[in-house]
Amino acid sequence: TNAYEFILTSTPRPGVGQITLNRPKALNALSTPLMKELNSALSAFEASPEIGAVVLTGSERAFAAGADIKEMKDLTFPEAYGKDFIKLWSDITNISKPIVAAVNGHALGGGCELAMMADILYCGPKANFGQPEIKLGIIPGAGGSQRLTRAVGKSKAMEIVLTGKNFSGAEAEQWGLASKVFETPEACVEGALDTAETIAGYGRLAVKAAKEVVNQAYETSLHEGVKYERRIFHALFATQDQKIGMTAFANKQKPEWKNE
Ligand code: CAA
Repeated sequence: TNAYEFILTSTPRPGVGQITLNRPKALNALSTPLMKELNSALSAFEASPEIGAVVLTGSERAFAAGADIKEMKDLTFPEAYGKDFIKLWSDITNISKPIVAAVNGHALGGGCELAMMADILYCGPKANFGQPEIKLGIIPGAGGSQRLTRAVGKSKAMEIVLTGKNFSGAEAEQWGLASKVFETPEACVEGALDTAETIAGYGRLAVKAAKEVVNQAYETSLHEGVKYERRIFHALFATQDQKIGMTAFANKQKPEWKNE
């Protein structure tokens, strides 16, 4: 059952929701209707108690070739600013469940930015990243200049954003932007599903807290971040899952999480 036109959704593993961008004619260009569907699928997985983690992927040829250039072509400043064009793209960053991106093929412009909004980034052998906006007379508009710089440092980010030159999955992995490169596109998606299934097998509250504290590292000083972490760490002693997890360890048993 698929209620969407530009994406496919499924639950291929216990606790795992998968979203596959599926607009092959435009190499998954991220039109506003597609982004609305993506947000709606993400909210549905976020709301579902069955789901513990999400995998976001595209096709073998393209994760996503960017924002839809044909949609943007005639956009005026009053329209772009007035309607806050592209703001709805950041909705994905408000999802509290972990998102694993499996990138095969092109991840350009907004496609690269979308991949960088995921929590864990995996690549296939032909992953092709880049921020080619400069070639269109614009700049990255969905966080690329910020997330890329934090991930790979100023010189590489400047080089990528100013030249519009692409980079490979192997480079993304070497620079710390991605965590793994797989040998085939299928292995990349399977690897993302494996990781999502592992995460979905843990207590939901601890998973939510873990994502929250890692993200906090981007927002605060080390001192404040460590304090923030410790507060959340303490808070988890108020959950049943902490008692369940530690008791199971002491009794050499497998924990049965209650997500409470
Ligand atoms: N928007 C709209 N349509 C796109 C698109 C995009 N970003 N990318 C590809 N398409 C369309 C093509 O127009 C083409 O459609 P037609 O068959 O109707 O002509 C179809 O997808 C297939 O593409 P190509 O024929 O170009 O395929 P290719 O294999 O020769 O090239 C490519 C692949 C190198 C990715 C090339 O399509 C390309 O350069 N795409 C644009 C990449 C880009 O500039 N992305 C950044 C967009 S700006 C942005 O994202 C702003 C932001 O920061 C949010």
